[in-house]
Amino acid sequence: MKLVPGPASIELAIKVSGILGLRLTDLEHKTFPDGESYFRYVDCVENDVVVIFQGTHPPQDKHILQLCLLSSGAKDLGASRVVAVVPYLAYAKQDRRFKEGEVVSIDVVLGILKQSGVDKILTVNMHAPWIIDKSPVPIENLDAIGVLASYITRMNLKNPIVLAPGKKGEDMSAAAAKVLNADYGTIKTKRDINTGAVEVSLEDVNVKDRDVVVVDDMISTGGTIVKSINALKSAGARRILVGCVHAIMVNDADKKILSSGADAIVATDAVPNKYAFVSVAGLLAESLRKL
Ligand code: R5P
Repeated sequence: MKLVPGPASIELAIKVSGILGLRLTDLEHKTFPDGESYFRYVDCVENDVVVIFQGTHPPQDKHILQLCLLSSGAKDLGASRVVAVVPYLAYAKQDRRFKEGEVVSIDVVLGILKQSGVDKILTVNMHAPWIIDKSPVPIENLDAIGVLASYITRMNLKNPIVLAPGKKGEDMSAAAAKVLNADYGTIKTKRDINTGAVEVSLEDVNVKDRDVVVVDDMISTGGTIVKSINALKSAGARRILVGCVHAIMVNDADKKILSSGADAIVATDAVPNKYAFVSVAGLLAESLRKL
């Protein structure tokens, strides 16, 4: 097995190679003056299973194309199988046609990866897990909510309740609550398909004088979490801890979250970020061992 550190996920590739006790493949990478990517496999990959670490967090389009180059190149050089470790799988928000005429982006992206020789995608808490069934490339979707919650157990929570927004909210909050030995519930969300603005509401949850852990698979603009924090504060929550797997954090989302009253943000290293106190490397290594 050859472990290939794609430019988007070098740190994670180093951690996984350390856990597996396998050295990283020597890969030459440079960017031409006009911005195009160049790669050269220095080590031979012929007849090998090639595992490419390349998240597709921002800049998504560049990271996706780099993954395609690395995968196609490996197959062209005789790799027997390509496994793409894509801790954050981009474009999963556009998993259907919400409005007439829209492009279903995730279908296109998965089709391109298939065409580029990717035989399997290993990802973490994908935004739309229901697309696994229709994906042209087999997807293994690992769940990092447990490791995230294990870290939060150190935070000395008082009478905690775990809440998560959206339609996957109940599964996420239940998984975290099991680890934290806490109550759980959901935060109802409604997103405007034209503006993207989200409305949240707390229904049937009592947060008064309690520590609240809000978990989410991803934070992008921070809009959902900031609105949730405002509602929780108004309802009398004590401390508010925010945990997420994918901290995309566009336009200073983290600052908005902290200034709206969150006491801490804890994220994983699935996307490189400064709140990555929890690593998904162990989960990835465990899955790769089965190959
Ligand atoms: C929604 O389904 C997700 O779980 C997140 O709540 C959402 O993607 C976060 O986006 P934003 O940070 O832009 O509100």
